[in-house]
Amino acid sequence: MEEQFKQKQFKRTLITTALPYANGPVHIGHLAGVYIPADIYARYLRLRGEDVRMIGGSDEHGVPITLLARKEGVSPQEIVDRYHRIIKQSFDDFGITFDIYSRTTSETHYRTASDFFRTLYDKGAFIEKTNEQYYDEEARQFLADRYITGTCPHCGNERAYGDQCESCGSSLSPSDLLNPKSAISGSVPVMKETTHWYLPLDQYDPFLRQWILEEHKEWKPNVYGQCKSWLDMGLQPRAVSRDLDWGIPVPVEGAAGKVLYVWFDAPIGYISNTIELCPDTWETWWKDPETKIVHFIGKDNIVFHCIVFPAMLRAEGTYNLPENVPANEFLNLEGDKISTSRNWAVWLHEYLREMPGKQDVLRYVLTANAPETKDNEFTWRDFQARNNNELVAILGNFVNRALVLTDKYFDGIVPPAGELSEADRQTIAGFAHIQTAIERQLDTYHFREAQKEAMNLARIGNKYLADAEPWKLIKTDPTRVATILNIALQITANLSIAFAPFLPLAAGKILRMINAEPFGWNRLGAADLLPAGHPLGKAELLFEKIEDDVIQAQLQKLADMRKAADAATYRAKPIRETITYDDFAKLDIRTGIVLDCVKMPKADKLLQFRIDDGLNRRTIISGVAAHYRPEDMIGKHVCFVANLAPRKLKGVESEGMILYAEDADGRLVAVTPEAPVQPGSEVK
Ligand code: MF3
Ligand code: ZN
Repeated sequence: MEEQFKQKQFKRTLITTALPYANGPVHIGHLAGVYIPADIYARYLRLRGEDVRMIGGSDEHGVPITLLARKEGVSPQEIVDRYHRIIKQSFDDFGITFDIYSRTTSETHYRTASDFFRTLYDKGAFIEKTNEQYYDEEARQFLADRYITGTCPHCGNERAYGDQCESCGSSLSPSDLLNPKSAISGSVPVMKETTHWYLPLDQYDPFLRQWILEEHKEWKPNVYGQCKSWLDMGLQPRAVSRDLDWGIPVPVEGAAGKVLYVWFDAPIGYISNTIELCPDTWETWWKDPETKIVHFIGKDNIVFHCIVFPAMLRAEGTYNLPENVPANEFLNLEGDKISTSRNWAVWLHEYLREMPGKQDVLRYVLTANAPETKDNEFTWRDFQARNNNELVAILGNFVNRALVLTDKYFDGIVPPAGELSEADRQTIAGFAHIQTAIERQLDTYHFREAQKEAMNLARIGNKYLADAEPWKLIKTDPTRVATILNIALQITANLSIAFAPFLPLAAGKILRMINAEPFGWNRLGAADLLPAGHPLGKAELLFEKIEDDVIQAQLQKLADMRKAADAATYRAKPIRETITYDDFAKLDIRTGIVLDCVKMPKADKLLQFRIDDGLNRRTIISGVAAHYRPEDMIGKHVCFVANLAPRKLKGVESEGMILYAEDADGRLVAVTPEAPVQPGSEVK
């Protein structure tokens, strides 16, 4: 009651969604963390007849984009053009209903962000500071943190970046690196003075404390908590410009070679894209206090949306602050952090290629596992289970039964409901309040609970049919069956409303099957949506079972990706100390044929080989049981060191050593002559 009392009333809602970096496609983490919840919320408000705009776009500046461009030898523009297109298409395919999806390289954005900076500059909102930063004299440019590589002081990794060591995970600043090198020219950078503009966040501390800690206690605990800890650590001035040649030029005299810091321009993208969407009325969406602004973001964006951007807006002075920032935590994938650079992800465009038509399945699973209050995990097994046990077995099964039975017993015409039994009444009462139940969850950004409520309706229907068993009554009591199916069809119609925000394709399919137009959100919970005599459409399968081999293929794909990523970061071991030819000539390396191979008892790693060495047969023991099945070795030509002093292993004398190459992931692969040769041939 108190919470409801506190909720302000607004005339309209502006939903913003974090602008994804256009340096790669989007993956399930993006969808689960930001775009699905935002889309559910937008669809829900629209269904309620509210005035809503949902704003999206690509974030096309920042150092990683320039690094990728350099690596591929193309312009940054080419990179962002490519990924903007792919990202936009993926969102489209998944039914994310943006009112606009634009980009931060748009003309409108350049002008808007530039003007915004200039307004703050003219108001004296920035402080100007000069300090020393690394400079590449060969490339004649200052080096962003990511452009400097060197040795990590913590773990000795020689390829650490100026902001982070990816080997041990420490966050670094460029001056921490030992032997710093420019990633551009490879030369040793020097320290040189440079001037930048800073937003003195510390000055906004009282305002932020009041606004967040006092006035927004209702924010999600993970968001509120992160803000509080930032504030308690003490805010520092933050640079809002960078020395870089990709970005929006700092609109100040004498600032050549300087651009707006990507985190300064990107959130202004929300404003620019609103301007692009409604050039005449955009101010209503940003400046009228009766507009509610909600930012959907992931947890790594909290400080920018709750502290930095509000400080910028406050400095400008004419904009509203967000009413809520329902940030999500992270979604992990099969036990590991999702990573674009390590290619550890399920990419949306690939998912759709491999599972055509199954966007609602992913929407369902990602909402069911949404990382709303803590990190959560996506696994393919869970995906399969939720599809098969929930979407197919509960929702799909119920709708299908209701339709097929009506088709069979009443020629596909909604039969009339007669007198209600106690069970009928209870069932109808069981979903009468579903609208309020879903709304209560959605209004407080609890999307998984909201979807559970919708699924609960399908459970009610499923149980109702299973208990009523109309197929057993049709011969004896067709009037009763008419009532049962009437109620089942009312539930089916309700499902088309309840699932509309969550599973838009399935909801549309249900409507087609019952041959109806959308009912309107406010009809949710009613038991008289379909009049008796209404002709239904054709029954289709709502969801189909996903078999093990499909899941296996996805798991295999991930395993392959991991292997490729390992290979990409593989560095061969340094070459050992030089030896003379005589040292080498001492080695007698020969070829041989494997006559027999068995696992050694009481040793999990060892295989015992019997080798034809051209003169005799000899026994050699190798630690490759993890890499080869003994029976697969028989008949293979191998190379071995023939004059190694014999050595006893587990009581058996090993007479030499078979040669293997060790792969990046530690796998051992036997070295064999490229064509068959006589056993005993010298290798030299
Ligand atoms: N590109 C950022 C990210 O992916 C998000 C930017 S959100 C905006 O983390 F507010 F800056 F637009
Ligand atoms: Zn390190």
